[in-house]
Amino acid sequence: MKDQLAFYAFFFLLYACFAALSSAQDFDFFYFVQQWPGSYCDTKRSCCYPTTGKPAADFGIHGLWPNYNSGSYPSDCDPDSPYDASQIKDLIRRMQEKWPTLACPSSEGHHFWEHEWEKHGTCSESILDQHSYFQAALNLKNKINLLQILKDRGIEPDGGNYEVSDIKDAIKDATGFTPWIQCNVDEGRNSQLYQVYMCVNTSATNFIECPVFPKGRSCPQEIEFPVF
Ligand SMILES: *[C@@H]1O[C@H](CO)[C@@H](O)[C@H](O)[C@H]1NC(C)=O
Repeated sequence: MKDQLAFYAFFFLLYACFAALSSAQDFDFFYFVQQWPGSYCDTKRSCCYPTTGKPAADFGIHGLWPNYNSGSYPSDCDPDSPYDASQIKDLIRRMQEKWPTLACPSSEGHHFWEHEWEKHGTCSESILDQHSYFQAALNLKNKINLLQILKDRGIEPDGGNYEVSDIKDAIKDATGFTPWIQCNVDEGRNSQLYQVYMCVNTSATNFIECPVFPKGRSCPQEIEFPVF
């Protein structure tokens, strides 16, 4: 009887340890993804400006995505934690400016932010609640001015073609970290600068070298940087 109790106690403790470990380590790092609105819009699908007006000609936030070092990622982690705009009232104006939606039909942005929270944000909930999550992304956007970094190297959204390696070098030299560049294609099938991925540590405060880059088609050597 005593042996049996010890036996169960042992397994219970083992289980408790694993549970504690796994909740402390839901993911390994974040991708912080920014998108160029000119490339989002310059596609067959096109785009719609938010109801608040045409966004600034700047990179906008797409999302802050928990990821594993293996390359895979968790998603939709907590169905009991719906997007709640009332928790981020004080951030909405900054979100409209820095995290604008370009999806059709036109909207204010809540649908976009809801998707980002429910698919990605709920997976880092043990570290960042809803307000902290959106605020962390806005703060990261403030830390690095991608457009200025590129302009300083003569890489401008003027519809011209640029070497991907020059774009990566500019960002690496200015920030210390290597980005991953994602392209899309316009109606004429020309590749263009679509999204820039940077990696961030699990407190969502500091950029780090990416433990792993996303899988997916890489850009051709030269890509267009379209006007917006
Ligand atoms: C994230 O980076 C900052 C600065 O290096 C550091 O203070 C913080 O502890 C880091 N967070 C984690 C979880 O490593």
